Amino acid sequence: MSGLFWMMWVACTTAPESGDTASNDTPIWPTELSAAAELAELWMGSTSEGAGWTEGELAEVVDTHFNSLTTQNELKWSISSAPGIYDWTVADETMAFAESHGHRVRGHALFWHRLNGKPAWLETELLAAEDPEARARELMAEHVDAMVGRYAGRVESWDVVNEALEEFGPDLDEANGLAMAFDEPLDAIDLAFSLARAADPNARLFLNEIFADSVEAKFEGLVALVTGMKARGVPVDGVGLQAHYVLHSPDGAILAERIAALAALDVDVELTELDISITLFDDAVDPYAAQAEAYREIVGACLSVTRCTGVTTWNVHDGLTWLDTDSLFGALGPHEPTLLDASIQTKPAYDAVVEVLLEGR
Ligand code: XIL
Repeated sequence: MSGLFWMMWVACTTAPESGDTASNDTPIWPTELSAAAELAELWMGSTSEGAGWTEGELAEVVDTHFNSLTTQNELKWSISSAPGIYDWTVADETMAFAESHGHRVRGHALFWHRLNGKPAWLETELLAAEDPEARARELMAEHVDAMVGRYAGRVESWDVVNEALEEFGPDLDEANGLAMAFDEPLDAIDLAFSLARAADPNARLFLNEIFADSVEAKFEGLVALVTGMKARGVPVDGVGLQAHYVLHSPDGAILAERIAALAALDVDVELTELDISITLFDDAVDPYAAQAEAYREIVGACLSVTRCTGVTTWNVHDGLTWLDTDSLFGALGPHEPTLLDASIQTKPAYDAVVEVLLEGR
């Protein structure tokens, strides 16, 4: 880090220690993470957290530590109770929060067929259609117009298609009813991107994948998918690697290679949903120190590639982690996978990420 940057950083970070209290008893949080991320020219994000989250302590924590915000559930298609009917309440609150606090927004996720990614009515609607592909095309166009159109110019990046591939393998996921309504399922993916480009020409459009960061065969499938999209002229600007480390141990060197390989396909890359379960370090003398080293490696991998533009941790703090309540991962926890503990105190992993950010790119 240059002397100038060091002075700027010190100037930005003269906040009191975590846990100090202002005269009105409002806790004051350290500001190092977001300040360090800005020096490294990296978006450092966390998630929105449902109804009411923009009020009170949680909002203050998000504002202090991060400079980017991903809509965790608030912009999934499941906020639609019937074709064309949406409940925008929490999404609007989240957007207003991000704008008034200067956070960039990642819109997540236009098309996702797992968990709470799709509306309850979608499959019935497609089954009832005389021409399911034509109906799927119509519904997709209406959805993108409604959602991307509503927030055009306000969402910096969209996860346009989430988890196109089977969970641990290289092929398109046949459980994706929307894509499978097409004679050629790849057409569904291409269409999603061209609709999103038309609805907001300035948003960066991402393909977002789970476990491609850690499963080699799946990573190869992702490279093939992106290569094909580029060859077909599909407007894909970025690839999101979710980076959920819960079944697989993090490996910074492998991740750095994978990020570079994707960037070589002329896409930006982000680590979009990073969490690293403490259960991976059960055998370590100090599991929290081992988790900190893993965070250092993984964020360092992103910093090693110029086109890696952001890292988002999934959930604001350990008390909110989705892993602990997930039907598959919940039983393996508690996971304590984020940078802040359940009492919203910084963890060794937080300090390690600040350090690696301050080392720069
Ligand atoms: C999760 C949310 O965190 C949970 O609150 C929700 O119940 C299910 O979805 N991959 C994704 C995210 O792309 O949308 C998922 O988020 C986690 C896995």
